Amino acid sequence: MADLIAPSILSADFARLGEEVDNVLKAGADIVHFDVMDNHFVPNLTIGPLVCDALRKHGVTAPIDVHLMIEPVDRIIPDFAKAGASYITFHPEASRHIDRSLQMIRDLGCKSGLVFNPATPLSYLEHVLDKVDMILLMSVNPGFGGQSFLPSALPKLRQARQIIDDSGFDIRLEIDGGVNTSNIREIKAAGADTFVAGSAIFGKPDYKAVIDEMRAEMAK
Ligand code: DX5
Ligand code: ZN
Repeated sequence: MADLIAPSILSADFARLGEEVDNVLKAGADIVHFDVMDNHFVPNLTIGPLVCDALRKHGVTAPIDVHLMIEPVDRIIPDFAKAGASYITFHPEASRHIDRSLQMIRDLGCKSGLVFNPATPLSYLEHVLDKVDMILLMSVNPGFGGQSFLPSALPKLRQARQIIDDSGFDIRLEIDGGVNTSNIREIKAAGADTFVAGSAIFGKPDYKAVIDEMRAEMAK
């Protein structure tokens, strides 16, 4: 599976969002990571389906990776599917019926995924592995960009990689939180194939330079 760089638009300039997304894609990003927060499941409030729809209308054709940090999830999933989401991932704690929510995402034509907070066990995958297209491991406690990578994510990535490889399913392993040019190499070595980076990319003036450096680090 090819490695994908997924800039988190949480750290973009929201006043110029369309332009920011165009620029980061031109700079070599593969997918757009779209953080949805509700000031309830996490202590912050961000963007919803309207903004996803606006990006599609603006002309963004790259996959949009919607990370739901909201509770409940079922009510908003159809809205995001309609707004052009490609992936929709949610935290198992935020759904009473994890199997149903995953199935709903796929039935609507999107790719589904489960997100694991640093302290959330991977055992949630046990009975739904055939219903996930993506496993997203948080390497920070969700809610804010710009936090430091928690090293406990590395053994957890190795564990998730093992689960995926043993399953034989086509499942992406995404990492989110504190990813930068200095740690992306060991994160890849631990088994990740999809790398979210917010502040590391949007915090620098030259997005292409950062993304090129990330790829160079991964190739080492
Ligand atoms: C955190 C979000 C992340 C965040 C990553 O709750 O899910 O996607 O934007 O930002 P950085 O890369 O700055 O840690
Ligand atoms: Zn995220």
